[in-house]
Amino acid sequence: MTAPDLGGAPTAISVDSALSCVDIHKSFGGAKAVNGATFSVPKGSITALIGPNGAGKTTVVNILSGSLSSDSGRVMMGDTDITALPSYQRARLGLIRTFQLSRELGGLTVFENLMVAAKVQPGESLMNVYLRPGLVRQAEKESRERAASILEQYGLYDLRDNWARELSGGQKRLLEISRAVMAEPSLLLLDEPMAGVNPALIDRIGGHIHELKAAGVTVLMVEHNLGVVEKICDHVIVLAEGRTLATGLMSELRENTDVVRAYLGGVLDGRVDR
Ligand SMILES: Nc1ncnc2c1ncn2[C@@H]1O[C@H](COP(=O)(O)OP(=O)(O)OP(=O)(O)O)[C@@H](O)[C@H]1O
Ligand SMILES: [Mg+2]
Repeated sequence: MTAPDLGGAPTAISVDSALSCVDIHKSFGGAKAVNGATFSVPKGSITALIGPNGAGKTTVVNILSGSLSSDSGRVMMGDTDITALPSYQRARLGLIRTFQLSRELGGLTVFENLMVAAKVQPGESLMNVYLRPGLVRQAEKESRERAASILEQYGLYDLRDNWARELSGGQKRLLEISRAVMAEPSLLLLDEPMAGVNPALIDRIGGHIHELKAAGVTVLMVEHNLGVVEKICDHVIVLAEGRTLATGLMSELRENTDVVRAYLGGVLDGRVDR
């Protein structure tokens, strides 16, 4: 792989990077939400993106997934520059993010939610429907089997015919992740997948994230709970005021006085419980 030209930006790009961004900037009106973020997500890792409220984490995730364009900077998937690709093309390359359950998806059943997230849908082409009906039927059968198996794994199979909007908050979190898994990610972006859920469900979702890693999926997750980060993440990126403050193992970041001062101090002293 050829290392990208960093253009003087702080470097955190490794050759084993599944996803990286270089000198990302994004302003809303006059306010800089992201101000030179540069980091890479090691292939096969569970990487945490942490930082204070308003640090730009969600904005960065939106830019990485292609649902928001940056003002400047580059996004690379491995050694492929994906900066100009729309989100559906990034998804085809395996870059999938979770979304909160939207109104439209809430109006589908749990099972339908997975079916619309399936990656290969030859039935979408009218040509295939007329000329290759066998192929369409076979693909649909495989998708239905895959959806059923994912729902079973995530404990949602018995709820498959329920309206998604009627699920509990925790079940909706599991559905969001199941939908992402249905899309066959190689790289999964999760924005606070455990926010507002009870400790038992935190452990369960953490277990699913580990299963995904074991299956070869690279995960980047925004997470406020540093206990969770320490327990399940291999690598941490700290964002503050739209810039990458530090990257490394949680144990290394504890030694970094800038990080401790900017973000971790209160947490490590037990003064802040986020
Ligand atoms: N669509 C938008 N329009 C205007 N300002 C925005 C928009 N999205 C984000 N911002 C601003 O950009 C900054 C970064 O927001 P962002 O949501 O990315 O932070 P965050 O790190 O995800 O915060 P949190 O931990 O609270 O989720 C904030 O000051 C926010 O108010
Ligand atoms: Mg956010």
